[in-house]
Amino acid sequence: MKITVIGTGLIGSQLAAELTARGHEVTAASPSSGVDLLTGTGLDAALVGAEAVVNVSNSPTFDEQSIEFFRTTVGNLLAAGERAGVRHQVVLSIVGVDQVPELDYYRGKALQETLLRGGPTPYSIVRATQFFEFMEPTMSWTSDEAAVRLPATPLQPIASRDVVDALADVATGTPLGGILDIAGPDRFTLDEIGRMTLAARGDRRPVVVDDQAGLFAAVHGDVLIPRPGTRLAPTRYEDWLNG
Ligand SMILES: NC(=O)c1ccc[n+]([C@@H]2O[C@H](COP(=O)([O-])OP(=O)(O)OC[C@H]3O[C@@H](n4cnc5c(N)ncnc54)[C@H](OP(=O)(O)O)[C@@H]3O)[C@@H](O)[C@H]2O)c1
Repeated sequence: MKITVIGTGLIGSQLAAELTARGHEVTAASPSSGVDLLTGTGLDAALVGAEAVVNVSNSPTFDEQSIEFFRTTVGNLLAAGERAGVRHQVVLSIVGVDQVPELDYYRGKALQETLLRGGPTPYSIVRATQFFEFMEPTMSWTSDEAAVRLPATPLQPIASRDVVDALADVATGTPLGGILDIAGPDRFTLDEIGRMTLAARGDRRPVVVDDQAGLFAAVHGDVLIPRPGTRLAPTRYEDWLNG
């Protein structure tokens, strides 16, 4: 089948390769290839003949501008999809995204889901937990030469490779008309993840628990932990770190 993947970053690049390997005809689209969801430039051409669209684009910022990014880009993509006769719109979201209203970025992603659900096209929402690849950038925001400061936020991260497998299954299937949650196999606190990551890198700095540090300080309790029945992916964080 013909599938357009919007976004060619961490997830989009792997997803385009996976769908192609499964025998599908993939158009990969992003501003660097002349397709801009914010302005609509190049979008109609990128959707010609597409049966399904997977939206794995991302806002360039996590601040309040991200809310407008998601509002505008969903609107443009749904309208262009209708013009092109797209029969399935898939978006990648975040487990617990509607439980952290303190974060503009999460509010933007929740709005993205709401607009998709209210749109004219059959849809699927895949909600993933935090990617393994996102852990080191998260740590770097609150690190200095002496220590890494992280809150003890409960997380159950997932390998981006496993997210791609789930997205490929959903994109080539019947629209869910709902949400599929996916997560990695193991639950940690963020400071534990920090210690595992530093140990794997031979970095001897201590991790200090600081419930005011960084993006995840806004998360209360275990709202980012998947509910029972969630599809659990196979890759373990320690194996991925040391692989
Ligand atoms: N990080 C996590 O732990 C996590 C967890 C769950 C869900 N997610 C979701 O996963 C999705 C994909 O994340 P990712 O890590 O693959 O993102 P990424 O590596 O930052 O890639 C984002 C892509 O979006 C494209 N893009 C930016 N502005 C665009 C625009 N105006 N029009 C079209 N494309 C645009 C970029 O294109 P250029 O390269 O050309 O600029 C890039 O290819 C995001 O929506 C995120 O919310 C992330």
